[in-house]
Amino acid sequence: MEFSPAMIAAIQQASHIAVLTGAGISAESGVPTFREAQTGLYAQVNPQELASLEGFRQNPMLVWEWYSWRRSIVTAANPNPGHKALVAMEQRTPNFTLITQNVDGLHRRAGSQNVLELHGNLMNTRCSQENILITGWQISETIPPKCPNCGAFLRPDVVWFGENLPVLTLQKATQAATSCQVFLSIGTSAIVEPAASLPFLALQHGADVIEVNPEPTPLSKLVAFTLRGAAGIILPELVQAVWGWDH
Ligand code: OAD
Repeated sequence: MEFSPAMIAAIQQASHIAVLTGAGISAESGVPTFREAQTGLYAQVNPQELASLEGFRQNPMLVWEWYSWRRSIVTAANPNPGHKALVAMEQRTPNFTLITQNVDGLHRRAGSQNVLELHGNLMNTRCSQENILITGWQISETIPPKCPNCGAFLRPDVVWFGENLPVLTLQKATQAATSCQVFLSIGTSAIVEPAASLPFLALQHGADVIEVNPEPTPLSKLVAFTLRGAAGIILPELVQAVWGWDH
């Protein structure tokens, strides 16, 4: 794949690179993207309903089991060459911030170090009342399981529709978007706020923005460089073109 020399130079010269990833980077690991039709057991399910506090209150058992199913898919999945290319990029960049909307934990499993999980991580569980992480609980027949401290239902440690993002994580992501020289938007439809504002913030602060996506998004007409294709194909070739990484 041919890359623009200007884009390669921008990446090589950047002291701070920020990356925003969405479900598209995990698609090649077999994890369905958010807006793909829900497959399998939950084909009829509307994620926007289940992934909400209201949905949990109305049907805690269904929501808990939907996340258990998603956890099983993610546990069986493996990081793909796109995740691994971002690890190599992080190792070759003085200051690197990986911001992800994904809750699958695959960036950390690939070896990425500085990861900001804007929407949480479905492998973690927290008390729905105390909002503290819970690592162990009595296995019983009640679903969802109960908090060992207070008896409230446990819930996945993810951001649901209508909930606020973790404040410190969002502050760090915003700081990275406004101070980086290069911002890559990878595998995201760039429509869900506040994550979708980050590439626009980077643009406003003069960063070179690169989009990696097989499809156009609202960001596409504004970015300096568009790489049309799958992240698992493009990213390893990009890191090789910039740093000679033999992926
Ligand atoms: P979407 O499902 O909205 O978008 C996935 C994007 O990935 C699309 O633009 C696809 O074209 C692209 N894509 C698909 N396969 C790809 C591949 N192999 N390589 C690169 N790109 C590929 O998922 P997100 O943008 O992540 O929020 O959705 C953002 C948020 O919306 C989610 O985090 C979730 C949802 O509401 C919460 O749960 C709070």
